[in-house]
Amino acid sequence: MIGIFDSGVGGLSVFREIRKVLPGEKYVYFSDNAHCPYGEKSREYIIGRARRITEFLMERGADIIVVACNTATAAAIATLRKEYDVPFIGMEPAVKPAVAATRTGVVGVLATAGTLKAEKYRDTRGKYGEGVQIVEHVGQGFVELVERGETDGPEAEATVRESIAPLLTAGADTIVLGCTHYPFLSPAISKVAAELTPGRSITIIDPAPAVARHLMEVMNDKGLLPDGSAGYSLELHASGSPTALETACGRMLK
Ligand code: DGL
Repeated sequence: MIGIFDSGVGGLSVFREIRKVLPGEKYVYFSDNAHCPYGEKSREYIIGRARRITEFLMERGADIIVVACNTATAAAIATLRKEYDVPFIGMEPAVKPAVAATRTGVVGVLATAGTLKAEKYRDTRGKYGEGVQIVEHVGQGFVELVERGETDGPEAEATVRESIAPLLTAGADTIVLGCTHYPFLSPAISKVAAELTPGRSITIIDPAPAVARHLMEVMNDKGLLPDGSAGYSLELHASGSPTALETACGRMLK
């Protein structure tokens, strides 16, 4: 069984891609929405939450865990790997494919404050960011919009505009989504970008498909892939109201 967790519904953007490559698996998803957002919380706090959730998912039968949250990956995955005897798959900020894709030589990265200041992100940026300009911005208010299910309309567009305008002004033509909540705002991001920079085609990069492929490879290596007889199932759990997660699932996984 594959355990997946995030501070809220954002991890569903990763689950959506995982389900495409592993359609016959059993899944258990945990939304830590009573403690969402993680973006401004301390590293210690996030490690504490990640431990509790890992133990819960293992009790439910998870034999591999996807940390479907960039902020929690940056803060906690190294600790989790040391302390627990299951494989963990984390989120990688997609700087490398973005550097390959840009034509203007300017890459925009949208992520939470926690991710942007973490060593993990700084290392990735240092390793792959050479030769291009990388501009960063917190997706201010994005997580809250997605948790409320308000991914389109005037408020979503105004919120998106505030955070992407500085990236576009700097010349970015490629935007990395460094938080798993943000892919649900991709249509709003594309729409606002087309308004702000007509004539510049903007590439949006979501690392979820690559993470899903990596999960499948790791499961294959470890002999964890189902033998064909297992059927698809999805168990949902939340530390706060389960209604928000159930509604999001119905809407986002169409
Ligand atoms: N979805 C999360 C991420 O990928 C966390 C967002 C938050 O809780 O601030 O970073």
